[in-house]
Amino acid sequence: MDFVDLRAQYQRLKPRIDARIQAVLEHGRFILGPEVQELEERLAARIEARHAIGCASGTDGLLLALMALGIGPGDEVVTTPFTFFATGEMITLLGAQPVFVDIEPVTWNIDPARIEDAITPRTRAILPVSLYGQPADMDAVNAVAERHHVPVIEDAAQSFGAVYKGRHSGNLSTIGCTSFFPSKPLGAYGDGGACFTNDDTLAAAMLELRNHGQSARYRHTRIGINGRLDTMQAAILLAKLEVFDEELISRAEVADRYTALLHEIISTPRVLPDRSSAWAQYTIELDDRAAVEKALHGAGVPTAVHYPTPLHLQPVYAGKGVRAGSFPHAERAAERVLSLPMHPYLGPPQIEQIAEAVRAAVTAVTVR
Ligand SMILES: Cc1ncc(COP(=O)(O)O)c(C=O)c1O
Repeated sequence: MDFVDLRAQYQRLKPRIDARIQAVLEHGRFILGPEVQELEERLAARIEARHAIGCASGTDGLLLALMALGIGPGDEVVTTPFTFFATGEMITLLGAQPVFVDIEPVTWNIDPARIEDAITPRTRAILPVSLYGQPADMDAVNAVAERHHVPVIEDAAQSFGAVYKGRHSGNLSTIGCTSFFPSKPLGAYGDGGACFTNDDTLAAAMLELRNHGQSARYRHTRIGINGRLDTMQAAILLAKLEVFDEELISRAEVADRYTALLHEIISTPRVLPDRSSAWAQYTIELDDRAAVEKALHGAGVPTAVHYPTPLHLQPVYAGKGVRAGSFPHAERAAERVLSLPMHPYLGPPQIEQIAEAVRAAVTAVTVR
């Protein structure tokens, strides 16, 4: 059993994906070839954003967004400590400081009610993450940002395809960034990412920044990066985008099945009524994670922990004045979360087998 079964998807899409790859091999425009713009247009249309800018990874997307907003040394960016490392890493890479705010225990996303206290005269942006596929409470985050006249970047690496109050994740704030890491809901066969915005100036800045700050060929008006989306990956994503909506439905069905089978025995994920999840992960909470994890691996069920250490407790951030105990909800989640296999091709028998293994593991741990 695979945690994410990419082969099942390839078997389904093989003719379309192979034809797209073949087309790139034939035209040979490997860097910023026509598929990149075609994909950008489709992605922008998909989430009703004015601009989509393809880039080399979700990490580069965050970097480009922060660079376009002019964030640098001496600046502070308010974000969540319960996320993949890249969220904080890109803030620090630019010489700015991530200022962490604890999460809401139900959604695991940044708690908007706590953001105000973290704002200082140096705050230059707020960077919520839509973790596991469920959008953060973006209206509440945007309201705080508006009061303090700062932009909001949504780290939508895991949530492309999700909806919040009728609007699309990635298009809920000043800039949204997503990732096409292979195991993401819309995944490439290598690294890739995209930024979204409705602001023409920011879009133009990110387009230049991803390509060495060039406004025209060999005319460099900014210091940028080589952060272009690969043509081959864009071609693969175009083929996958055709079935993306069906796959989102299948992911939701997998999640609903898991929840129906497990909610009486463990803490299952809750998606709030005003939003949907792209179900990048199906994550449960456990009192004795290590024991359940071990039992599941023994039963042949792969699992993952997203993420075992909150950012403020990572070695690189330790000693920066934020001690263990500062963000109790994030720290508790990091000790308790466990993600189960999740992909659109997980059939009912497999889901039942996994749920049964979880039930057996939890029961064994409880009676121990
Ligand atoms: C929340 C979050 N932010 C950023 C990233 C970075 O994306 P990538 O791996 O495409 O660089 C990821 C994905 O791994 C992520 O899950």
